[in-house]
Amino acid sequence: MDFLIAYFTARSALSLLALTLALLLAARLRNSKATVPKTLPWVGKPTGPLAETRASYASFNNVRQWLAEGYAKYSKKGKSYIFPDFSGKPTIIIPNDKLRWLIDNSDDVASVAAVHYDLLAGDYNFTSPHILKTLYHEHVVHRSLARNLDDVIPGTWDEIQHAFRDTWGTDTKVWKDICVFDNLMQTIARVSNRMFVGLPLCRNKTYLSNMGAFAQDVILCMTLLNFTPAFTKPLFGRIFSIPNMIHYKRTSRLTVPIIAQRIEDINNKREVPNDYLTWHIKLANAESRPEEATPEMIARYLMPLNFAAIHTTTFTIVNTFFDILGSEPSKEVLEGLREEAERVFAEANGVWTKASLSKLVRADSAIKESMRVSNFATQGVQRKVVAREGLMNSEEGWTAPYGSIIGIDVHSVHHDPDVYPEPNTYDAFRFSRPREGFEAGAGGDKDARGSLGMKNMGMITTSDTFVPFGHGRHAW
Ligand SMILES: *[C@@H]1O[C@H](CO)[C@@H](O)[C@H](O)[C@H]1NC(C)=O
Ligand SMILES: *[C@@H]1O[C@H](CO)[C@@H](O)[C@H](O)[C@H]1NC(C)=O
Repeated sequence: MDFLIAYFTARSALSLLALTLALLLAARLRNSKATVPKTLPWVGKPTGPLAETRASYASFNNVRQWLAEGYAKYSKKGKSYIFPDFSGKPTIIIPNDKLRWLIDNSDDVASVAAVHYDLLAGDYNFTSPHILKTLYHEHVVHRSLARNLDDVIPGTWDEIQHAFRDTWGTDTKVWKDICVFDNLMQTIARVSNRMFVGLPLCRNKTYLSNMGAFAQDVILCMTLLNFTPAFTKPLFGRIFSIPNMIHYKRTSRLTVPIIAQRIEDINNKREVPNDYLTWHIKLANAESRPEEATPEMIARYLMPLNFAAIHTTTFTIVNTFFDILGSEPSKEVLEGLREEAERVFAEANGVWTKASLSKLVRADSAIKESMRVSNFATQGVQRKVVAREGLMNSEEGWTAPYGSIIGIDVHSVHHDPDVYPEPNTYDAFRFSRPREGFEAGAGGDKDARGSLGMKNMGMITTSDTFVPFGHGRHAW
């Protein structure tokens, strides 16, 4: 994990390096032919020669302002516009209330996998180009996680307790320093892997540090490749991804024997733990996909699985910790959370289940509110048009050509005072206050929102005005 710390303290040095690289390559053969409808207006596009390329570089520093401009001028009036992106590929931003139109398209028309594939430099690489093309691990999670949730909660709870006792401790007298980011990243890696691969591997330092380093290297590799001209990618892609490959090799030495054993146990109908490995093997067997169920292939899928679980969760939880701890003491955020947790835990006789967790409306709200105000992504729900004939928006009368990217502006809607009063304030119980009033039958909110509206206030449901993760079938 030392590497991780070094990485994050060196973050500014890295962006400097990236910027230098970008400037060096400024005159390169950039994919400057914009694949966007000609009729749509742009934000941030200057006049004169190479306007689109210049806009793309300028977007590095102007994302929030330009999004605000586009939001006021177009999104709020129900119109789409073009946003220049630093990668050189402009995005078509559609109004937030047209989200459904976008996500209702099938994957062979507007694909989220294709976006990930480009963004993460799919070929170079999650150790094999096959991984990001099939996303079988996502399929396994979708099919298995919800229905096995009650089975994995006890292990998760056990691992959380162990991890915090090991690192934060319970001493209320002697203070100590904790690097919150690093600590939570390790904790989340450990807790996630309790569900992925189980004990004892989920606590193995070699395994965890290579998973963490892999997650960082993918980002680095992707950043570097974004600045690399297309024709040199086959060369640089291989070079930049050498560290990824090393981390994969080191984890696979630990995972392959366990997976092989698991396959044998399943084939011989022995009792097996209810974890990701079992889900993956059983699903691939049931779907007759033997190529997805080799120990080596599963070991490879564990890499993007860890990547997805560790990154977004760590950013979210670290921000939530800081937002909660940075709240005015007079707001009694910690007290409110603690009271709720103790009450619900006691009511559930000391056993967390899907049902008892869903009663933690304040905790849910505190996380959701942090995701709203401290959002780390500015654009969300991106889809790449993969239908040859493009994707037509008949309402506005434009067609997004093959290869174009369509998305929505997450940042502005999260900070729109018409949607969220005092949008820049972290108000931990913003989402739970009406729910608690509603469930106690107290507030007049019942008529205003209706029971369906209330349901949408939970953290893992996404609506038009709250979209931190993406939306639709692929949100998880
Ligand atoms: C990256 O992907 C290419 C194919 O696109 C493959 O030949 C190569 O072995 C991979 N390299 C690494 C380091 O994973
Ligand atoms: C990780 O697991 C391997 C294989 O079981 C073992 O040899 C190694 O000592 C473990 N490493 C740590 C740091 O626990």
